[in-house]
Amino acid sequence: MQPHWRQCALGILALLLVNLLGARIPLLIRDGIDELQVTFGFDQIAQYSLVVLVLASVMWILRMASRIFLFGVGRQVEFDLKQRIFQHLLTMEPSYFATNTIGELISRATSDVDNIRRLLGFAVLSIANTLFAYAFTVPVMLSLSVRLTVVALLVYPVMLVLVRLFSDRLRNQQLRVQESTSRLSELIQEDLSGISLIKIYAQEDNERQAFAELNDDLLDANLTLARTRNTLFPLLGGLASISLLLILATGAGAIADGFLSVGDFVAMVLYVERLVFPTALLGFTITAYQRGEVSIDRVEAILMSQPKIADAPTLQALPGDAIRGQLEARNLMFTYPDSQEPALNGVSFTAYPGETVAIVGPIGAGKSTLANALPRLLDIAPGQLFLDGQDITQLPLVDLRSAIAYVPQESFLFSTTINNNIRYGEPLAELSEVKYAAKLAQIAPEIGNFPIQYDRVVGERGITF
Ligand SMILES: Nc1ncnc2c1ncn2[C@@H]1O[C@H](COP(=O)(O)OP(=O)(O)OP(=O)(O)O)[C@@H](O)[C@H]1O
Ligand SMILES: [Mg+2]
Repeated sequence: MQPHWRQCALGILALLLVNLLGARIPLLIRDGIDELQVTFGFDQIAQYSLVVLVLASVMWILRMASRIFLFGVGRQVEFDLKQRIFQHLLTMEPSYFATNTIGELISRATSDVDNIRRLLGFAVLSIANTLFAYAFTVPVMLSLSVRLTVVALLVYPVMLVLVRLFSDRLRNQQLRVQESTSRLSELIQEDLSGISLIKIYAQEDNERQAFAELNDDLLDANLTLARTRNTLFPLLGGLASISLLLILATGAGAIADGFLSVGDFVAMVLYVERLVFPTALLGFTITAYQRGEVSIDRVEAILMSQPKIADAPTLQALPGDAIRGQLEARNLMFTYPDSQEPALNGVSFTAYPGETVAIVGPIGAGKSTLANALPRLLDIAPGQLFLDGQDITQLPLVDLRSAIAYVPQESFLFSTTINNNIRYGEPLAELSEVKYAAKLAQIAPEIGNFPIQYDRVVGERGITF
């Protein structure tokens, strides 16, 4: 919230003023009522009513302002977080996405961020509002009648105990909901990507079953959470109302005994009502808070992960156009993190500029591993691979990678035009260059078959091809 502290401060200031005014209005009503018992005049009532109306209107405007400011901060933080998560994911190496599935990451970047927004908007507003309500109301209540105040606040410790009793349970159940949601989105993502495979092997029924199980789990998690919440919230609301009941019961006696004026009594009732609402809302606040807490942990796990492959602190810039393209491997070793056997074991060779070199070998020999090592898609140790005599781990990643043209084993197309896909690595390329590249790749005739040719949009992963 730090970048938006001004807006936060304004929102909280507005809440402060709202509660100051809110603590004032019952006193005005008390004065009005007490005066009515002495003299009765419509003018007086009209005067009091007018003042109350004006104060209440100002309160309403200020309350609106506080919501605009604080909910606005929530939205801003949501925006910032999404931006940061996406930016961070772009820096992570490919192997990160093998251990963190896309469905899981999407659910963290959307539904968890949503929870954080609610924590920073609604929960902050509600907590500040409750604190101010108590801070300004309780002293005035005490000045009216200590006995009635004590009676009214009698149930509040019980509320706090209840909240404490429930909070661990709520937190765990919330975590389970978030995890179930993630698993479900993971399955959707995976199944829709592998839809052809599911159909070829006629596994629709099995997948439906797997989905039903996860969906069932989510339903169960949601219902369990709802049960806990629906036990706690009405209990809080009910307890808050009991304090009103206690005031009514003891207040009547106090008036009869002459300890309390009718005006004081009405003011007390109004004050207790002022406290009932924020207190009854405490349940929602706690949920928003705990949801947000769980989600902050889940989002933080993404942001805290360090990219394994990054620019070294001691960088040597490549001489731009002057790259000759001499590639050398010196006793290159590479072992995948979760594997015992090295995939590359002491590979040494030199490919000179202008040479065409083919690396040939049986399945699993390590050809793709070697190809991925050159642009540092894999985390290889220094001192093993050299471009023009320079250790590639000491070169800026951008320089190294833009010096390499790469045709992956599995082709991938973005859901945009053919034109944009071909010039993906060189977004400013002219159409003539794109056409030339297509001709070299021998795909120009096929593209010519589409009515709008290079402007044709290909589906995600190029499904329309
Ligand atoms: N992400 C990975 N995690 C762990 N081991 C891997 C991973 N990718 C490949 N391997 C292992 O590394 C070895 C080399 O695999 P690689 O994909 O480089 O072989 P390849 O020569 O390209 O095979 P192909 O001819 O099938 O393309 C294999 O034993 C493979 O099982
Ligand atoms: Mg391969």
